[in-house]
Amino acid sequence: MSGRRPFVGGNWKMNTDLASGEALARTVGAECVPGLGSLDVVVFPPFPYLQSVGGALQGSAIELGAQDLSSEANGALTGEVSAEMLMDLGVAWVLVGHSERRHRLGESEALVEEKLTMALESGLSAVLCVGETLEQRRAGRAHEIVRHQLTSALHRLSADFAREIVIAYEPVWAIGTGVAATASDAREAHHEIREFMSSRYDSELASGVRIVYGGSLVPGNAKTIFAELGVDGGLVGGASLKAGDFLSICSAATIGIAAG
Ligand code: 13P
Repeated sequence: MSGRRPFVGGNWKMNTDLASGEALARTVGAECVPGLGSLDVVVFPPFPYLQSVGGALQGSAIELGAQDLSSEANGALTGEVSAEMLMDLGVAWVLVGHSERRHRLGESEALVEEKLTMALESGLSAVLCVGETLEQRRAGRAHEIVRHQLTSALHRLSADFAREIVIAYEPVWAIGTGVAATASDAREAHHEIREFMSSRYDSELASGVRIVYGGSLVPGNAKTIFAELGVDGGLVGGASLKAGDFLSICSAATIGIAAG
C-alpha cells in the first residue's frame, strides 16, 4: 500500500434542495459510520445547505466541505463567503480552483492562489483542482497546463501546508461528459503531478501528498481508475447525488487503491 489515506469527495455543485440535500446526507452518513473504513469522505453541498447537511451528517464519519470561499477575510464584498463563516458552520474542507469556477466564472490563477492560501491559513483543509481543457489536451499541452496551474497556485505555499492539501486532477473534458479519462491517462497525469510536487518541494512530500481523480467517475469505472498507481481516490460530481452510486465509489476507494 502507498500509505496514503484514500479520499473521496462528493461535489454536489448547484444541485439538490434543502430537503433532498438533507436526505442524501442522512442516507450516505448512515452507511459511513466512524471506524468503518480507512478513508476520508467529504461532501460539498451548496452554501445555503451547509448547516442543515452538517446537522444531517452528525454522528457519521463524513466531513463537511464547501465548494468555494472568498480570498478575503471579511468586509464589503457582496455575496462572498469567508473561511471564518464556513468554519462557524462546521466546514472542514473547501474546494479551490474547480474548473467550473476557472472556466465558466472566470476565476484567475492569481485568485485561485489567494483562495488556497486563505483557506489553509484559516485552518481549513483544501482540495486544489487542476486540469486541462480538450483543446489543450489535443494540442499536446495537458501536462504543461497542469504544471502551470500548480506552479501558480503553490508559488508561495510552504511545505507544511502543501503536504496537507489534496490535489484533484480533473480534466475539463471529462467533467459531466460521461467520458472519463482512461485509467492510463489518469495514471500518467497523477505521475506528472507527483513529479511536479517532488521538484517544487521534495520527494518525501510528493510521495505523501494525495492526488485524486475527478471527471465522470461512476461505480462502473471507479475501481479500475482507483487501481492505478498514484490515484488516491476521487472527486465525484453527478454520481455523488445518488447515494448508492456515491457509496459504491467510496467502497471502491477502500479496496481498490494501489500502491505508489
Ligand atoms: P462529474 O463527476 O459530474 O463529471 O463532475 C466531476 C467534478 O467536477 C467533481 O468536482
